[in-house]
Order: sequence, then C-alpha cells, then structure tokens
Amino acid sequence: MNAGLRSMLFVPGDSARKLVKGAGSGADALVLDLEDSVPASRLSIARTMVRDYLTANRDRSAQQLWVRVNPLSTDKALPDLSAIVGGAPDGILLPKTTSANDATMLDHFLSALEAREGVDAGYVRIVAVATETPAAMFTLGTFAGCSPRLAGLTWGAEDLSSAVGASTNRNEKGELDFTYQLARSLCLLAAVAADVEPIDTVYVDFRDSKGLMENSRAALRAGFTGKIAIHPDQVPIINEAFMPTAEDVAYAHRVIEAFASGAGTVGLDGKMLDMPHLKQAERVLAMSRRHKA
Ligand code: COA
Ligand code: MG
Repeated sequence: MNAGLRSMLFVPGDSARKLVKGAGSGADALVLDLEDSVPASRLSIARTMVRDYLTANRDRSAQQLWVRVNPLSTDKALPDLSAIVGGAPDGILLPKTTSANDATMLDHFLSALEAREGVDAGYVRIVAVATETPAAMFTLGTFAGCSPRLAGLTWGAEDLSSAVGASTNRNEKGELDFTYQLARSLCLLAAVAADVEPIDTVYVDFRDSKGLMENSRAALRAGFTGKIAIHPDQVPIINEAFMPTAEDVAYAHRVIEAFASGAGTVGLDGKMLDMPHLKQAERVLAMSRRHKA
C-alpha cells in the first residue's frame, strides 16, 4: 500500500496529455488541479475529466489520486467537490485556508458526499495549504485534532506574497524573505503538532535539477517528509531526496542498537544520544521501509 506523500505532482485537471504523462511519472500521488492552473472557461470540462480519470483509475496501489479544489471561500468549491467525490479521490488538497475550521467544514462536506456517492465513510483525506492567506498565519496552531481525515499540511509563498501586496517574496540574494521563511517554519511546526505530514512547497524553477535536489535535501533535514512537484522531471529528484540514504539507514540501525539496553541516554561515536535521537532513527527506518514497499 502506497500511503506516503513523498512526491505530489500537480497536473492541470483539463489536460488529457498531462494526465497520461503524470501516470507514468513515478509520483506517490498526483494532484489533479481544479484551481489556479485551470482557466475559468475550462473549469466545467476539467471537473468532468477529473471525475472520469478517478473513475477509470480505481487501483491506487501504485499512485494515489488527489484533487485540488477551489477555496471554500469561493462558490466553486462545492460544485468541484460534488463533481469529483464519486470518483473516490484519495484526498483533497485544500488551498487558501484561513484556519482549521476550513478542514473541519470540508470534513463535513465530504461525509455528506461520501454517503451520497457510496464511497466508504472517511475514505477521502485532506491536506491543507495552510499559509496562503495572512490570516492563516495566526491560526496554524489550530489544526491538531480538527479532523481524522487530515493527513498533512503544506505551505505556499506565491499566494501569500500576492495577498500581502509584496512585489516579490525574495531578497537581493534570491533567498525567501523572512515572512515566507516564517510561513515555512510555522507550517512545519503546525504539521508536527497536529501529528500529520509536513509537505514542502513547490520549487518553481523546474529546469534546475541541482537546485531542486539541494532544496529538497534542506527540506528533509528540516523535518519535511515530502514535497510538491509541478513537472514530471522533478519527481525522481524528490523521490530520491526524501528517501533516506544507505548511510542514513545504517546509522539509524546503530542508534537503535545503542539503545537496546533500555537506557535513556547512551554514547555513540563520542556523542550523547537521548530519546529524540532514538525517535529520529525510528523515523528514518520507517520512511525507508515505506518508500521501498
Ligand atoms: N504533469 C504532467 N505532465 C506534465 C506536467 C505536469 N505537471 N508538466 C509538463 N508535463 C508534460 C508536458 O505535457 C510534456 O509532455 P509531452 O512531451 O507529451 O508534450 C512534457 O511533460 C514536457 O513538458 P515541458 O515542455 O518541459 O513543459 P511545459 O512547457 O509543457 O509545461 C508547465 C510547463 C509549468 C506549464 C507544466 O509543467 C505544468 O503545467 N505544471 C503544473 C502547473 C500547475 O498545476 N500549477 C498549479 C500548482 S502551483
Ligand atoms: Mg496557489
């Protein structure tokens, strides 16, 4: 069973060509998009295409199928959901949330639609894009326990800077400005506090594979468990970056062995290790097992 969300590839919901390409991309999940990559004039046809794609691809053992719907603050969200839940998407990526209330409200909509469509109750999971509005930044602590469907949180710098009225989200050196680094860190902490997966945002320069690898490795080191892709070429790089290396795995085994005596603090290679190190080692092995499966 592929339950991980290491690589999530965005596919515009109205592009038959990209749907085919996405299927062969090796992404853990596709995110069939009904929001910003679909022009308003194509939304209706995109809903039908996404629904048909979901229905035609019921076996999700190799690749999960998620859908990004329009924000709940718009009048497009309910028609989006109504059109696609019958196809039993593995999850909904919910953009531009303002607090966990959005996830709770989506949970209720999904419960009703699952009942109507004969989809198992609670099947459809949720990942919230939790930093796209300024108001959301002050409510990131509210996600814990908001819905058993919540599987992850991700963040975005593009919509936030446009909402703020910033002309760019980068500084002179090309690094993310403090406001957006804050969004990244708060998303990470909020996800961990809610016991769901922290998923890193897109790397927009899709021809720069070296930059993507560095950016993904930095995200893994920070604690993110996966990353969103916008181009199929990004998927193998993300999959590799978030797969613990052989050295990571070997070291994790040594850490676990060092704790075998039951002691709470041990020494390894001249360094003190305590419970957080043991937890981290178990996490590395769990990630490695999951992605090998
Ligand atoms: N999913 C599936 N297939 C994709 C893809 C994607 N996200 N992006 C590109 N492809 C396909 C192209 O259709 C093309 O296939 P073809 O050879 O059969 O024509 C191939 O991969 C190579 O594409 P390329 O020419 O390198 O890129 P492009 O100029 O066609 O597309 C983008 C560039 C950015 C428009 C495209 O990558 C895209 O649509 N990304 C997703 C955008 C999105 O969903 N954004 C919302 C979230 S931020
Ligand atoms: Mg957006």
